[in-house]
Amino acid sequence: MNSRPGRRTIIEPFKIKMVEPLRMHSRDVREAALRQSGYNLFQVPSETVTFDFLTDSGTTAMSSNQWAAMMQSDESYAGSRSFFRFEKVLQDLTGYSHVIPTHQGRASERLLFGVVIQPGMKVPSNNHFDTTRANIVHLGGEAVDLVIPEGRDPTSLHPFKGNVDLAQLEAFCAQHRDHIPLGMMTVTNNSGGGQPVSLENLRGASAIFRKYGIPFILDACRFAENCWFIKLREEGQQHRPVLDIARELFSLADGAMMSAKKDALVNIGGFIVLKSGEWVEKLRASLILTEGFPTYGGLAARDIEAMAVGLLEGLDEDYLAYRVATSRYMAERLEKIGVPVVQPPGGHAVFIDAKRFLPWIPSHQFPGQSLVVELFLHDGVRTCEIGSVVGGKWVEGTFVPAPMELVRLAFPRRCYTQSHFDYVLEGMEEIVGRKDQLRGLRLLNDPPVLRQFTARFEPLEP
Ligand code: F0G
Repeated sequence: MNSRPGRRTIIEPFKIKMVEPLRMHSRDVREAALRQSGYNLFQVPSETVTFDFLTDSGTTAMSSNQWAAMMQSDESYAGSRSFFRFEKVLQDLTGYSHVIPTHQGRASERLLFGVVIQPGMKVPSNNHFDTTRANIVHLGGEAVDLVIPEGRDPTSLHPFKGNVDLAQLEAFCAQHRDHIPLGMMTVTNNSGGGQPVSLENLRGASAIFRKYGIPFILDACRFAENCWFIKLREEGQQHRPVLDIARELFSLADGAMMSAKKDALVNIGGFIVLKSGEWVEKLRASLILTEGFPTYGGLAARDIEAMAVGLLEGLDEDYLAYRVATSRYMAERLEKIGVPVVQPPGGHAVFIDAKRFLPWIPSHQFPGQSLVVELFLHDGVRTCEIGSVVGGKWVEGTFVPAPMELVRLAFPRRCYTQSHFDYVLEGMEEIVGRKDQLRGLRLLNDPPVLRQFTARFEPLEP
């Protein structure tokens, strides 16, 4: 366990061997960067950022064991030793036979959906992540979110807010069974606030998909954090090793896609793993066409080595205890200083409820983006909006907002220390003291897909 039971202080369960300077800039520098980037934090140079909580994806600090494994990689074009090592780790972990490396999560999505989705088909899930949805829609399919109602309520304290609504899922499968090429579950549920799915719910979903003959594929980006929450919160799971829980989780599905940039603790990488060989030939053909030979899939073998080590390090219980304690600490402190957050906090991130924090800013003026801009201006903290910038749209002259207006502070793995988090909290407290000065923004363009990356804004005058 992380530190001794009963201790208040969260300790990082590692010591530091290599350091990277934190950049401290003036507000003027940040103001200029914002103006140039159209007030979109995806567009500012990272040189102007001090604390980068934009994403937990690909931002992990790797371990000495990962770097050591990278040095031992076999960079052969075909049949690399590194691939076989990686394949074995995944086969042992998931119980699936077929392992297809890809360069990241959305490459896995594009490949798999490319093989199974025809126009008019529907893919149910708890919540699809935005690249998952975009890849389904791109092929003429429909991505359907069936998370439980508590998963849409930022104040609900349900322990497994990532659960799918099993009654709705059953009805959906019964009605559309011939048009569902696969069913999914995202663990943890990123779009819903990094919320976990219980084993019980996964068992239920698995039974429904099996009943209707629908293959069940996990979006397993944050499977280790999900399994840690199962250990902490699900009845009867406390004494099980988290690795054991992970094996059961995978056994309930027919395969998984993963962006290894999350719980496999690497900066780049992903994969598809499948129980059955049915889709494998087509997938490998597609992989060769656009990603690379099946034993490297668009990666260097050294990246594959780092994934093989990272997948198991990500299941280390001291690491997971510290990881989840960090987001809990941030959530508790934020609430204490008057910043409402989605409860309970997720694993990889804390989501601020911007609608409650800035209630005078209407959705079409993006309260979340307003806070994102302020956090950056004040202390160089980069975060991202997950609200109406991502999901709102104009329909016949009326703005239909996203269900929630959230700001995500996603925590890179093993990067920042306790004092960094305390410093950020101090700055947040200063913002709370003058939050009534915050105003919304006007959207200047409307990119057709994944708007958050390229949208441009201008601040509204007080
Ligand atoms: N699925 C989930 C649940 C994700 O969170 C992500 C990425 C992907 C798929 C796609 O993976 O980026 O490797 O192509 N999430 C990142 C984030 C970008 O910031 O939450 P990718």
